Amino acid sequence: MRKKIVAGNWKMNKNWAEAQQLAAAISEQLHTLAVDQNKEVVLCPPSPFLLTVKKATTHPQIKVGAQNCHQKDSGAFTGEVSAPMLQSLGMDYVILGHSERRAYFAEDNTSLKEKTDNALNNGLKVIFCCGEQLEQREASTHFDLVHRQLSEALFHLTAEQLQAVVIAYEPVWAIGTGKTASPEQAEEMHASIRQLLKEKYGEKTAEEMTILYGGSCKPHNAEAIFGQKNVDGGLIGGAALKVDSFLGIIEHL
Ligand code: PGA
Repeated sequence: MRKKIVAGNWKMNKNWAEAQQLAAAISEQLHTLAVDQNKEVVLCPPSPFLLTVKKATTHPQIKVGAQNCHQKDSGAFTGEVSAPMLQSLGMDYVILGHSERRAYFAEDNTSLKEKTDNALNNGLKVIFCCGEQLEQREASTHFDLVHRQLSEALFHLTAEQLQAVVIAYEPVWAIGTGKTASPEQAEEMHASIRQLLKEKYGEKTAEEMTILYGGSCKPHNAEAIFGQKNVDGGLIGGAALKVDSFLGIIEHL
C-alpha cells in the first residue's frame, strides 16, 4: 500500500518563534487525529528554522524537510544550502523543482536532475514538483510538459532509487491563486503520471509511488481531491501556515 502524505511548504514565511509555535501546535494536535503508520505529515519551514521545527515536533508521523538544496556537496556557492548539511541536521525530505524555484531561480530539468541525484546520494527523500502553466493547459500541451519534467529529471534513476521520491503535481495556475484544479483534473494528470511510471518502471513501482496534488488545496476541497484514486495526499502552501487549516486538510488524508 502506498504512503499517504500531507506536506506543508511554508515558503518564506514566519519568524523563529512563530515557526516553533506552529510546529509544536501541529505536533500536539496531531495526536487528536488517528494518523496511522501509512500516513506522514511533512513540515518544510525556511532553512534557518529546520532544526527548531525538528525539535518542536514529537509526533512520530511528522517528518521535516527543506524547500531546496544545491546540486553540489560543498563549495563557493554563497547563500546556498547543501544536501549533506540537511542530512547532518537529521532532515528527512527536500522539496525540489517547486514552480517558484523554476520561475525565479532559473531551475530547469538539467539542474533538477543533478539536485535530485545529490539529495538521494545524501540520504534525503525528495518531493519532486512538476506542473504546467495556464498557457500550456490551454494549448493542451500540459501532459507532454509534465511528462518531460519527470522523464528529464527523474527517469535516469533506478526503481530502487525512485522509492525515495514523492512526486507532487502542482499546476502553476492553481498555486496561491485560490483556483484549485477540479478533482477530475487532478485525477486525470495523476493517472497519466502513474501510467508513465508504469511504462518506464513497471506496474509494481508505479503502484507504490506517492503522487501528491498541490495548488490551493484547503480544508473544504481536500476531501474531494484526496478521494481520487491516484491522489495520495497534498503539498500545501497557504493553508499550511495555520494550525486549523493544516489539520483540517490532514483529517481528510
Ligand atoms: P498553495 O501553494 O497551497 O498556497 O496554492 C502550494 C504550493 O506552492 O506548494
